[in-house]
Amino acid sequence: MTVIEPLTDIDLPLADRRDGKVRISYALGGDRAGQRLFVTTDRLSAFDRIIAGVPYKGQVLNQLSAWWFEQTADIVDNHIVDIPDPHVTIARSATPLPVEVVVRGHITGVTDTALWTAYARGERTIYGHDLPDGLAKNDPLPQPIVTPTTKGEAGTHDTPITCADVAASGLVEPGLWDRVQAAALSVFTRGVDRGRASGLILADTKYEFGLADDGTLLLIDEVHTPDSSRWWVAATYAARVSAGEEPESLDKEVVRRALADVDFRGDGDVPDLPPEVWSATTARYVDAYERLTGATFAYADYPAAPRIARAVSTLE
Ligand SMILES: Nc1ncnc2c1ncn2[C@@H]1O[C@H](COP(=O)(O)OP(=O)(O)O)[C@@H](O)[C@H]1O
Ligand SMILES: [Mg+2]
Repeated sequence: MTVIEPLTDIDLPLADRRDGKVRISYALGGDRAGQRLFVTTDRLSAFDRIIAGVPYKGQVLNQLSAWWFEQTADIVDNHIVDIPDPHVTIARSATPLPVEVVVRGHITGVTDTALWTAYARGERTIYGHDLPDGLAKNDPLPQPIVTPTTKGEAGTHDTPITCADVAASGLVEPGLWDRVQAAALSVFTRGVDRGRASGLILADTKYEFGLADDGTLLLIDEVHTPDSSRWWVAATYAARVSAGEEPESLDKEVVRRALADVDFRGDGDVPDLPPEVWSATTARYVDAYERLTGATFAYADYPAAPRIARAVSTLE
């Protein structure tokens, strides 16, 4: 059996390297001034920690985002310029707005900023939205809502803020913020509709927007991937929820559960998990890609780093 070495890091001969939890980006120059090159690695984060590399995960995120950017280009401009390699996007460089634009169609979650956490405490006005009584965990909301969070500095947690306060605090200029919310809700609706046609439920998601040099509002980062979104399997949703179980989810659930089983909640050394956890996680990401796009996933050649370096060296 060949062991596939996941892409967890790369060192490219380019300027202005920036590291996120999952993506490594560089500035491009020459004819490509004003563009950045993003490598989506195979890193998987949970509890704000990098847990492991999962082969092909970066490729799925990169190619699935590219597909969604194309599917939503009629709604809002986006940062995509080119996909020169399965793990790489060349994008218009943008100044990210300082809020993460979370849109929720269902009430769920377990973290401090989750809607369900506040609702279960008895709150009925959450992120400035009035919610009806009688919702159960994982139920659909009367309509999708925007629940922004301010972007914390690296290592800190995001802080909830109401839509009114985003504008009132000057974080985003009010007219621009109106456009961002409208774009986010339309892109979300597109996601819900396309997902439904693929047998999937888009429960919630997170968007990032930015401003290009010329002031154009751009949808940036990633769209409707299993990292940024909760995708549930529609066929089993009703039965599972009415049995008091969690919906079947196409994301890092397998890893989160394996970590919870060994009592890891984000502190201390990251435990080793059995190999089946990683193969099952690759399979879920690939499954999400294939269901949503309707295309067969074309596994890229590994090792990925030398392949990417070659693609980058031949960029025009
Ligand atoms: N077009 C763009 N221009 C500038 N920055 C971008 C663009 N698209 C995404 N980004 C930023 O690049 C980073 C992507 O790396 P990622 O690993 O997803 O970061 P994070 O750990 O914050 O999730 C994020 O900080 C995101 O805001
Ligand atoms: Mg990110």
